[in-house]
Amino acid sequence: MGIQFAALVVAVVLVITGYSLVAHQYVSSQAHQFMDVMLAVRQYTSRKVNPIIAPINAVSDEAFLAAAVPSYSATKVFEYLRLNNAYADFHYREASLNPTSSADLADEQEAQLIRRFMANPSLREVSGTQAGRSDHRQYFVAKPIRLTNESCLSCHSTPDRAPRSQIRAYGSKNGFGWKLGEVVGAQIVTLPEDAGLPTPGRFALLLVLAVGSMSILVVLAVNRVFSRLVLRPLSQLLRLLRGEQEDQDLDGRRDEFGAIAKGIASIRAYLTRGDESDRA
Ligand code: HEC
Repeated sequence: MGIQFAALVVAVVLVITGYSLVAHQYVSSQAHQFMDVMLAVRQYTSRKVNPIIAPINAVSDEAFLAAAVPSYSATKVFEYLRLNNAYADFHYREASLNPTSSADLADEQEAQLIRRFMANPSLREVSGTQAGRSDHRQYFVAKPIRLTNESCLSCHSTPDRAPRSQIRAYGSKNGFGWKLGEVVGAQIVTLPEDAGLPTPGRFALLLVLAVGSMSILVVLAVNRVFSRLVLRPLSQLLRLLRGEQEDQDLDGRRDEFGAIAKGIASIRAYLTRGDESDRA
């Protein structure tokens, strides 16, 4: 019993450890997929949307058409994605130390990440967990945003190059003075560490319940089969031995029970004959 219990504890610990690793892998790959999709949205805006809208923004005195801005389209797409309840706890940020939009101003933690990316150009990505807004811990992946494209400079170099409508909407103080090749911010995807999966403890409980009920079913089935195949003929044999029963049930059997029943019958016949000859 002690050994069985120890084996069960070891099995549960192994399962929880394995499951935690797989769950972490799953969450991390989900975060990376979102990051890649957001990068694709940025590319799409830069290559396909900006060339169409930039000339309009350049001459228009009306409201600034933000649809031309890669950062705007990526954050908007994510905002729409979060309307789906399955992604309500996911977050996407394009944070900067000198942001065009004040909503993108890096908080303390984000600023630290951006400074790390600035100081270390070979650092491609940082990921980890942090305390979340809710009681769930959060997993995050951050990548530097590097200004590699000339087209970014039209809106982020000097206010006089930027569309007037942009200046009117965002002002001329922030989001300028950026240079080609510079890290200008960070993309950060944050999602709950469990990302909709059961927690390892809950998973272990489900597993123990499933394995436990399977074991009970197997024991019941084995019991039933054993009693049908072995116990019932054995007790018939016993009754036969005690002379409480005729052997008609076992008579037709071609297995060991049938053979024993025949043996008992012939011994009994022999003994009966002995009795008769004694009396004669
Ligand atoms: C049409 C002008 C325009 C172009 C082109 C443009 N941006 Fe921006 N960028 C903006 C505006 C406006 C915002 C603020 C958007 C918002 O309201 O979220 C912004 C936001 C950002 C942000 C988020 C931080 C912040 O400043 O609010 C980053 C990072 C950024 N842009 C980088 C780039 C890069 C890199 C490129 C080139 C691939 C680029 N931008 C091209 C106008 C532009």
